[in-house]
Amino acid sequence: MEKKRLRRSWSRTNKALFSRSLWVGLILLGLGLVSLLIGHIASDLHWSQFRRRLRPKVSHNKRLDIWKSNYSDLYYGCSGRSANFRYAVPENRSNGYLLIATSGGLNQQRIGISDAVVVAWILNATLVIPEMDHHSFWKDDSDFVNIFDVDWFISYLSEDVPVVRRIPDKVMRSMEKLPWTMRPPRKSMPDYYLYQVLPILRRRHALQLTKFDYRLTNRLDDELQKLRCRANFHALRFTSSIENMGQKLVQKMRNMSSRYVAVHLRFEPDMLAFSGCYYGGGDKERAELGEIRKRWATLPDLSEEGERSRGKCPLTPHEVGLMLKALGFQNDTYVYVASGEIYGGEKTLQPLKDLFPNYYTKEMLADANELEPFLPFSSRLAALDFIVCDESDVFVTNNNGNMAKILAGRRRYMGHKRTIRPNAKKLSILFRARSQMKLDWETFSTKVKYAQSDFMGEPDEMRSGRGDFHEFPYSCICKKDVVSSSQN
Ligand SMILES: *[C@@H]1O[C@H](CO)[C@@H](O)[C@H](O)[C@H]1NC(C)=O
Ligand SMILES: *[C@@H]1O[C@H](CO)[C@@H](O)[C@H](O)[C@H]1NC(C)=O
Ligand SMILES: *[C@@H]1O[C@H](CO)[C@@H](O)[C@H](O)[C@H]1NC(C)=O
Ligand SMILES: *[C@@H]1O[C@H](CO)[C@@H](O)[C@H](O)[C@H]1NC(C)=O
Ligand SMILES: *[C@@H]1O[C@H](CO)[C@@H](O)[C@H](O)[C@H]1NC(C)=O
Repeated sequence: MEKKRLRRSWSRTNKALFSRSLWVGLILLGLGLVSLLIGHIASDLHWSQFRRRLRPKVSHNKRLDIWKSNYSDLYYGCSGRSANFRYAVPENRSNGYLLIATSGGLNQQRIGISDAVVVAWILNATLVIPEMDHHSFWKDDSDFVNIFDVDWFISYLSEDVPVVRRIPDKVMRSMEKLPWTMRPPRKSMPDYYLYQVLPILRRRHALQLTKFDYRLTNRLDDELQKLRCRANFHALRFTSSIENMGQKLVQKMRNMSSRYVAVHLRFEPDMLAFSGCYYGGGDKERAELGEIRKRWATLPDLSEEGERSRGKCPLTPHEVGLMLKALGFQNDTYVYVASGEIYGGEKTLQPLKDLFPNYYTKEMLADANELEPFLPFSSRLAALDFIVCDESDVFVTNNNGNMAKILAGRRRYMGHKRTIRPNAKKLSILFRARSQMKLDWETFSTKVKYAQSDFMGEPDEMRSGRGDFHEFPYSCICKKDVVSSSQN
């Protein structure tokens, strides 16, 4: 269902893009002319406001420390409330109870929860602990209380938004009807909530927003963005049983090696089928993935090569390994792999293990029975991977999913820990050339480094206002005033 909808809107966007590209071309030409006359392009205004706070671009011929950005120490996460930011309106004076039902996997739900805190603030509503999605692809019956520390969530946010575990019985009984439910459009503006949602909330005293993910615009003023960050990076803390197990896994990695790379692989059959790409598995793969594709009646016929050259295909485990090696990671590097089902299983993973024999997963690290309590719950397992990836020195993904986005943003906030996102578009050309023996290793490696130079999680890669706020939480990252001069 969801995928169908996504695909539909995606192909619509593509068509629109195609016809729009002519216009964009003309507009750019126009802007170019204008900029010649007045000195800058309109959109630069927006960026430069933020870019001024950042260091000038690192030149490509300087050697990048693959384990840590040279500039990470110059920045810190800043999401404190400012003095004039309105305090929480107490429960008994609030406009009513806001319920939300989140949607998707753990990280998509995290986005919904963070945004719900901001919506509750905008509405002067009392937020009821969110209801988790039990019906997603990831099927998990866990409730909020099984994954996140509820008391901490409530107390951390107490200055901003009143949060309750449930609607008090007294209020429940006094309500004439069940809470109204509605689904806000994607990326709604605050005005939508004020004009469309608030009147209903006031009238009914309780209101449930359904499928609550990406329901709030990326662009908010800085104070609201900071509230988003407080919710996401501070208020949402895993339960102690998850946190302890996660930290234990981290400790086991660190006991073997002082630093490690975490790789998040999404390579599930569904996802590959959906991508329309070809991953080198011959007729068998084409038949199997083709069979899965039939599930989505409306999928357009995609050209395998077209998708690949547009950078739409997730990297294979082997390609991730080649990229890491080309970037300079030695074969004795400790690698933690977080993944769901891998299409092709061990056979698909083997080339990555061959490149990096110190390869670990949570199943390999945990003692017998340690993982057992978590096994029936995909979200809790995902939370363990989240912790080990979050704590890693270097985090790498092969995809652009919610976990990749959330962790990329979080790692920037927590001190620009190195986060490598593959530049799939450029890399696809290099992987092909290499497999056709057109590149020797040295040339391949140099070209990979160049292709990745803006995809290494350096502070100056950020573009304020572009992309997802959760991926680039620019309002919540501040530059230190460097008083002493390092040139001395
Ligand atoms: C980062 O620091 C290392 C050593 O401190 C230095 O060799 C390297 O050139 C620096 N890289 C950049 C991009 O400034
Ligand atoms: C609201 O609750 C607070 C305590 O939580 C209480 O001090 C205050 O009197 C209440 N206000 C109203 C209008 O009931
Ligand atoms: C929220 O409360 C503040 C302070 O009491 C008030 O100024 C503001 O208008 C209220 N907003 C809404 C949407 O009720
Ligand atoms: C890590 O090593 C220390 C010392 O060797 C040991 O006490 C500790 O139990 C180890 N931690 C884990 C999680 O294996
Ligand atoms: C790593 O590579 C070196 C050669 O560069 C080789 O001698 C060594 O055996 C490799 N180590 C592992 C663990 O594969």
